[in-house]
Amino acid sequence: MTRIVVLISGRGSNMQAIVEACNNGAIDGSVVAVISNTDKAGGLKFAQSQNIATAVVDHTAFADRNQFDAELLTLVDSFKPDWLVLAGFMRILSADFVNHFLGRMVNIHPSLLPQYPGLNTHTKALAAGDTEHGATVHFVTPELDAGPIIAQTRVPVLPTDTEQTLAERVLLTEHDLFTHALQLCVSGVARYADGKCTLGNARM
Ligand code: GAR
Repeated sequence: MTRIVVLISGRGSNMQAIVEACNNGAIDGSVVAVISNTDKAGGLKFAQSQNIATAVVDHTAFADRNQFDAELLTLVDSFKPDWLVLAGFMRILSADFVNHFLGRMVNIHPSLLPQYPGLNTHTKALAAGDTEHGATVHFVTPELDAGPIIAQTRVPVLPTDTEQTLAERVLLTEHDLFTHALQLCVSGVARYADGKCTLGNARM
């Protein structure tokens, strides 16, 4: 069985969707651990209710990013994951960490990458007057939110949108998007090679 470790920082609705997809067979794998950088992450409770191992590595307890990343890497490795999934994990990871999991680490980001890497993506889309916004699942590479894209969803931006209504519309698409993209990875359809994502025979 394909082993999946999920990193979260908050609510964990994407993690929950992935767990449910594993339970109902939409993803051919099993979430073996959910790890957060804060004990305030609401998603930890859901994981515990599913009898999934949980852990917290509190980033505020470390002197610098490298020490935090080293501890997190050791912990993640102890669960022997085939895939490491960033589902609302709000810490930047160092190149050493990313390279250790290169090709088997994916992230969901709430924008149509390469537009709006980083924070406040919905505010940026509204400020730019975009008529379309969305979410992206991509392989993680050392450059923030710049790894090769596996799949995207698009939603309209409405004239009446606020940051909150737009974020909600995007989030509604994220759960199916992440489930679909992760199954592409687990099944070997989506592969990372030489900085690109290969989907079946196509190169993206
Ligand atoms: C999601 O919208 C996800 O795309 C975003 O955080 C939210 C987490 O929600 N991720 C990022 O912004 C990563 N840079 P969730 O905790 O309910 O899954």
